[in-house]
Amino acid sequence: MKNGLEDVIAAETQLSDVDGEGGRLIIRGVSLDHLVADCSYEGVAALLLDGLMERSFDEAQLREWLAKARAGTFHHVEAADASILALPPVDAMRALIARLPDGEDFDTALSLLAAPAVFLPAVLRLQRGEKPIAPDVSLPQAADILRMLTGQLPTREQTAALDTYLVTISDHGLNASTFASRVIASTQAGLTSSVLAAVSALKGPLHGGAPGPVLDMLDSIGAAENAGRWLGEALDRGERLMGFGHRIYRVRDPRADALKGALRPLIASEQVDSTRGALAEAVEAAALAILKARKPDRPLDVNVEFYTALLLEALGFPRDAFTGVFAIGRTVGWLAHAREQALDGRLIRPGSVYIGPLPAAA
Ligand code: COA
Repeated sequence: MKNGLEDVIAAETQLSDVDGEGGRLIIRGVSLDHLVADCSYEGVAALLLDGLMERSFDEAQLREWLAKARAGTFHHVEAADASILALPPVDAMRALIARLPDGEDFDTALSLLAAPAVFLPAVLRLQRGEKPIAPDVSLPQAADILRMLTGQLPTREQTAALDTYLVTISDHGLNASTFASRVIASTQAGLTSSVLAAVSALKGPLHGGAPGPVLDMLDSIGAAENAGRWLGEALDRGERLMGFGHRIYRVRDPRADALKGALRPLIASEQVDSTRGALAEAVEAAALAILKARKPDRPLDVNVEFYTALLLEALGFPRDAFTGVFAIGRTVGWLAHAREQALDGRLIRPGSVYIGPLPAAA
């Protein structure tokens, strides 16, 4: 067996397909480039949850219910005491999600879709000594997240960039956090438990915890001319370059291009410093060249985290909150997979091979 279980098929799903050789992501029959061009976060959420809940709904209906659910979860922010606020943002957000009741019904799913979007901005504000801002039910989720973070209505370009981000990361096959969500769902523990397990899996740096370190790397490199030397020294120390490599993709991660595209209008309208983007492109090129030279047998390309880092920084999220923003977007995928698993009804319980000592003969 391979320790990472890469050859094991552990589920049949109608939700998404990751084509690692072709560099393609399909979500419920639609390829990512089409989704990003045509669909809002609420649209992709309606698509992912379609037929999996006891109620049917369209994008507009979900937008309205989700906005009300944001308003309905805001009171939990009062529970963010000093011990919760001393935690990293994603852990504080998880602690608040743990207050939600467990269940399999649509209202539980709605609360879970809304809760991270409300809790993360509130935690960030409280951690910097500011009052949390209540949700605005007239706004779509992406715009409201930014408003609850900054206290100001975001620009059209900022809203579109976050919306594209949320669409892009909504689901991605049987990644570690989604698998965790399905394992919990198979025990019939409830959707809140599934989401809590998934957030816990997501926060590791090999999964959703990489984008903060991508910015640390860019800061440390400082200028394009340092990139080759800096990256070479990091590899000499046995470090991995954050934002590169993927378990499934052997070519460029299609999500990286979707996010790079979402950044462009912000740069063109001078809402972001263009020198940051230029440095990132130089580092990307240098990293691809050095990885190709050092690891010729292992195709290593840019992954979703590299441009996630730039996008979320441009939108004003602090880097220790990036994993929490990822969780806001991925929760819909976790919920859809949990429901798909629960409807299947079978407990996930794989076997293992015992390689320890045997009891001594009597
Ligand atoms: N930088 C340098 N080398 C890397 C690398 C990276 N980002 N990613 C993989 N490699 C190398 C490994 O060191 C290994 O080399 P070796 O065979 O000489 O020991 C080889 O590629 C295969 O690595 P492996 O651990 O089998 O790959 P994986 O499928 O487990 O790795 C990741 C997938 C994502 C965990 C890995 O690419 C990584 O750690 N990337 C950096 C973190 C990151 O960006 N995470 C976000 C993922 S979306």
